[in-house]
Amino acid sequence: MKNMGLHEIREEFLKFFNGKNHMILPSFSLIPKNDRSLLLINAGMAPLKPYFTGEKVPPNKKVVTCQKCIRTADIENVGLTDRHATFFEMLGNFSFGDYFKKEAIQWSWEFLTKILEIPEENLWVSVYMDDDEAFEIWNKSVGVNTEKIVRLGKEDNFWELEVGPCGPCSEIYVDRGEEYGCNKLNCKPGCDCDRFMEIWNLVFTQYDKDKFGKYHPLENPNIDTGMGLERIAVIMEDAKNIFEIKEIRKILREVEKISGKSYGTDPRINISIRVITDHVRAMTFLVSDGVLPSNEGRGYVLRRLIRRAARHGKLLGIEKPFLQNVVSTFIQSWKVQYPELKRREVQLKNVINAEEEKFQETIDQGIQILEGYIEEMVKNNKKCLNGEKAFKLYDTYGFPLDLTKEILEEKGLTVDENEFNINMEKQRKRARKAREEFSDSGWKNNGSIDLFKGIKTKFKGYETISLKTKIIAISVEGSPVNNIEEGEEGVLVLKETPFYAERGGQVGDIGYIKKDDFKGKVIDTQYTKDETIVHYVRMESGELSVGDTVNAIVDSKNRRDIMRNHSATHLLHRALKDVLGEHVKQAGSIVLPDKLRFDFTHYEALKDEELKMVQNIVNEKILDNIEVRTIETSLKESEYMGAVGLFEDKYKDIVRVVQIGEYSKELCGGTHIDNTGNIGLFKITSESSIASGIRRIEAITGRAAYDYLNKLEYNIIDISNILKTDRKSIVKKIKSITNEIKEKDKQIESLKSKMSLTIAEEVLNQVQDVNGINVIAYRVNDMDINNLRNLGDRIRNDLNSGVIVLASTDNGKLYFISMVTKDLVKRGLHAGNIIKEIAKLTGGRGGGRPDMAQAGGKDLSKVQEALNNVPSVVKRQLK
Ligand code: ALA
Repeated sequence: MKNMGLHEIREEFLKFFNGKNHMILPSFSLIPKNDRSLLLINAGMAPLKPYFTGEKVPPNKKVVTCQKCIRTADIENVGLTDRHATFFEMLGNFSFGDYFKKEAIQWSWEFLTKILEIPEENLWVSVYMDDDEAFEIWNKSVGVNTEKIVRLGKEDNFWELEVGPCGPCSEIYVDRGEEYGCNKLNCKPGCDCDRFMEIWNLVFTQYDKDKFGKYHPLENPNIDTGMGLERIAVIMEDAKNIFEIKEIRKILREVEKISGKSYGTDPRINISIRVITDHVRAMTFLVSDGVLPSNEGRGYVLRRLIRRAARHGKLLGIEKPFLQNVVSTFIQSWKVQYPELKRREVQLKNVINAEEEKFQETIDQGIQILEGYIEEMVKNNKKCLNGEKAFKLYDTYGFPLDLTKEILEEKGLTVDENEFNINMEKQRKRARKAREEFSDSGWKNNGSIDLFKGIKTKFKGYETISLKTKIIAISVEGSPVNNIEEGEEGVLVLKETPFYAERGGQVGDIGYIKKDDFKGKVIDTQYTKDETIVHYVRMESGELSVGDTVNAIVDSKNRRDIMRNHSATHLLHRALKDVLGEHVKQAGSIVLPDKLRFDFTHYEALKDEELKMVQNIVNEKILDNIEVRTIETSLKESEYMGAVGLFEDKYKDIVRVVQIGEYSKELCGGTHIDNTGNIGLFKITSESSIASGIRRIEAITGRAAYDYLNKLEYNIIDISNILKTDRKSIVKKIKSITNEIKEKDKQIESLKSKMSLTIAEEVLNQVQDVNGINVIAYRVNDMDINNLRNLGDRIRNDLNSGVIVLASTDNGKLYFISMVTKDLVKRGLHAGNIIKEIAKLTGGRGGGRPDMAQAGGKDLSKVQEALNNVPSVVKRQLK
């Protein structure tokens, strides 16, 4: 066998099939495109499905890839065994209606025996039950002995996913020797033991399975093969398992180094080290492909991987977030083959670290609570944790159910998942209800909505902002009426309208509906639930009736402001992706006339430079005066165009794509300016967080930006007047003023310390003799507790031996301190007890050590009286 590592095998594989006229394609993203049946890419063929079904034309009929894959179905077992992993790379060669069984079989044999130089006698194969054709090829053309060709059933030798291209397959196994085996007489491929390791699956893709489980023959038979890169590396290195191959050991070593624990010394330590080693690769690639941790879908897979790895770090005794160090080691070793990892290294580590830190905060609390539950369960001899408690852990402490399950399982306990789900559903309903109540607020839902059921208004607002049309319905106070009079408010429906009804974040238009001198002011435009466009009107003069021909005139200034903000929102969206990364996704947006607001996914606050960069890009695109075009096309076509849409939105088959040159393409029903130049100017006014992982940017354009700059300028003029300087010198002037203030602060400080010297002298002059002891009881003013203590220290130094009680009033507060020199402490005097009695006389409280104590007081009028009591308190303590 050749001496080859993981990276060399990958390279040789691609090279070999390239030599057989296969086009090398880079690994596709882990996020499936246009494939709702799959959460994450889990096989080399998954991103190529449309080529198999004939839906799309492949760039070449023969293709070879090394595809990143994630499979999470067995995640609980990852770590427990040394066979399971969530992340792996799959080598595959594919034929889209080109070559078939014979070439696929022969080339795989050639690669294994000639390139990798695996001895032929170590190789076995299996074929599907009645696939005589494959059997013959292996036997006659390749020369594999019939005893080493095993026929297996559908379970083993028919390859399929939930839906999509599939077919019978033939697998190649490596005999690892008896030492790996079960020693049973009939041990051969298909046996459960570790002796025959399945390395390569050749699928003869002949069918397309639909969601009802029916198989439809494909027009052309195809080839789909898959060989696990890590597995073949195990063979080539004669390693025990995937965690022992050289490249992966590098990651594993880093975990050993950070934790100070050695792999192979304790089964529990092994589990944790394996979990981290595996999950780090999966999480790094997921983030690199644009996934962010969240509570749903792919984001949840990522969150779970990070949290599971973080928890196993804790089990290894690692106290601080550490995953980013393991990520570094991984990237270091994979960066040549996946340069994007190196490029995005900082961002990747930030995302992972932020999630890990967030988890650290909650996990300790969560674990403590869970341990409490477990204790209780053990005491009461219960085996199953109440689902409500598990839900509370999830809801309040961010504890994923799987984690709760895993921790319980380690103790042989379970959780009531059914009850958990019921609680989860309840909460979802509550949230939904809250949302609905919120959006139905106000007068907009005034009962008239249903009156217009079935009426469809033609929207003409893309082409024009005013037109002549007819009133077809009116309602006032929720009832249908024939006319609406001066002073009344109501809802009008027109046959056609230029008024844009609120949708997609863009607010509804305002304007007028007029007939001669009769005039209704449109203060909002909305859709009803049945898609009727309704105009909310306040009659300013005269009356309007059903059937009237009217002029519908949108307030053009207002609408142009809105259009500027809407187009600017698209530019902002694209610029954020450019600056921060492809993980940026729209999470909400409001387009108003006076500003725009854009919410998006990102894991941390934007840095000043990032904000500046985003703002610069948008303004450059404005200055480039780029044409904004809208086209209508099919949803599919828009996806091929690469248009950005909201994943959750339901789109109709025909969609509208707003295109700003080649820079931005978005599915959007809003109204836009014709040319980016019309936006005028774009200015970000704020950046903030609205939820974990979601940021908000507010910005202004056009007139609002101009107003903003004017105001800024007026402010500057005001400031320069106050500072008595011209505008250019403001900064210089302010710097000199701040310096001056600093100088003055210093002077004040030095004066204060001089003053405290004088005060100290003054206080020392007040020494009384109480039974031969120096006692000072004195009140000063305007000193806080720190200054009072400093004063006390100074007096004590000068006094050598004595008792000091000082009071100070400062900003309406009353403080006491008390000090007793060491010699007197020995004689039984106690500063804490003295101050307690004295402060009490003013309604205050305090205490402390025998040599030093402090207290607060209340009644300012009693301060002197309290201080007068010091000598008698001292006398009493001496007895
Ligand atoms: N699609 C086949 C597999 O994943 C090659 O095993």
